[in-house]
Amino acid sequence: MATDPKTINHYNENADGYHRHVSDPNESTFHAYYEKPAIRAELPPLTGLDVISIGCGSGVDARWLADNGAKKVVGVDISTGLIEIAMRENPDLEFQVMDMEQLSFKDESFDLAYSSLAIHYVDDWTQPLKEAYRILKPRGSYVFSCGHPIDSAVEYRSENGYKYALLGRKVNQATRERTIYGDYLAADSDGVKPVKGILADMEITVYHRTFSKMLEQIQAAGFKIERMVEPQPTEGMKVADPQVFEQLSKIPCFMIWVLRKQ
Ligand SMILES: C[S@@+](CC[C@H](N)C(=O)[O-])C[C@H]1O[C@@H](n2cnc3c(N)ncnc32)[C@H](O)[C@@H]1O
Repeated sequence: MATDPKTINHYNENADGYHRHVSDPNESTFHAYYEKPAIRAELPPLTGLDVISIGCGSGVDARWLADNGAKKVVGVDISTGLIEIAMRENPDLEFQVMDMEQLSFKDESFDLAYSSLAIHYVDDWTQPLKEAYRILKPRGSYVFSCGHPIDSAVEYRSENGYKYALLGRKVNQATRERTIYGDYLAADSDGVKPVKGILADMEITVYHRTFSKMLEQIQAAGFKIERMVEPQPTEGMKVADPQVFEQLSKIPCFMIWVLRKQ
C-alpha cells in the first residue's frame, strides 16, 4: 500500500477531530480561505455531472459538489473512520472505503474526478493517476490539489523557540563556505521523498515530488494538462490570519492541477 499505514491510522483515530476541523472555517483556515476557493474556481459547471470525490475525508467536499449541481456524487477514502462520518452526515450521498490506487468502478463511469489534498499521501502517482484516467468518460476532467514542492522541499529546524522551514543557502563571505538548507531535487530518491511533521507534528507522511516528476507521472497516465494554478490566499485569510496571508502571498503551499482525458 502506497499510503503510509500510520497516516491511515492517524485519520482513523482522529476522524471526529478532523471532521470538526474541516467543518469550522476558523479552524481550517488553509482550507476555507486558500485551497477550497482555489480548487472550486477551477471546476467546470457541475450541473448534470457524475462526480467522484477521491480522498473525500468526512464528505465535506462531496456535500458541496452535490449542493452545487452535480447529478451524482460518490465519495471514496481509505479511512474507514472518515467514511463512517461521511455516511452519517450525508445519508443521501454514496460513500465507499477505497484506495485511490484501486478504484472499483467500471471504465468511463464519471464526468469529473475531484480530489482535494489527498494524492500527496501516495508515494508514486502512477497508479492513482492511471485509475482516475480509466474511470473518467472521454474528455472528462480530473481536478486535484496537492502540496506545492517549494513547500515540501524545505528542511525543518527548531531553535530557541522558533521552528524554521528552510530552503536556500548561507555563504560565508570570507571563506566561501556554503551551508545548504532543504533538498528540492531529492536526487538520491529519484525526485520523491517522504516528509514527516509537515502538519503540526502529526503522525502522517506526505511525499515531496519535484515539478518534473509530477509532469512525468501526469503525462504518463495519458492526461492532457489544461492548467496548473498556484493560488493566492483570499481576503478572508487576511482577516483570519494576516501573517499567514502574507506568507501564502509570497510562498505557495498548495497547487491545483486541471487535467483532461484525451
Ligand atoms: C487532508 S485529508 C483531505 C480530505 C478531504 N478531501 C477534505 O478536504 O476535507 C486527506 C485524505 O486523503 C485520504 N487518503 C490518503 N491516502 C489515500 C488513498 N491511498 N486512497 C484514498 N484516500 C486516501 C485520507 O484518508 C484523508 O481523508
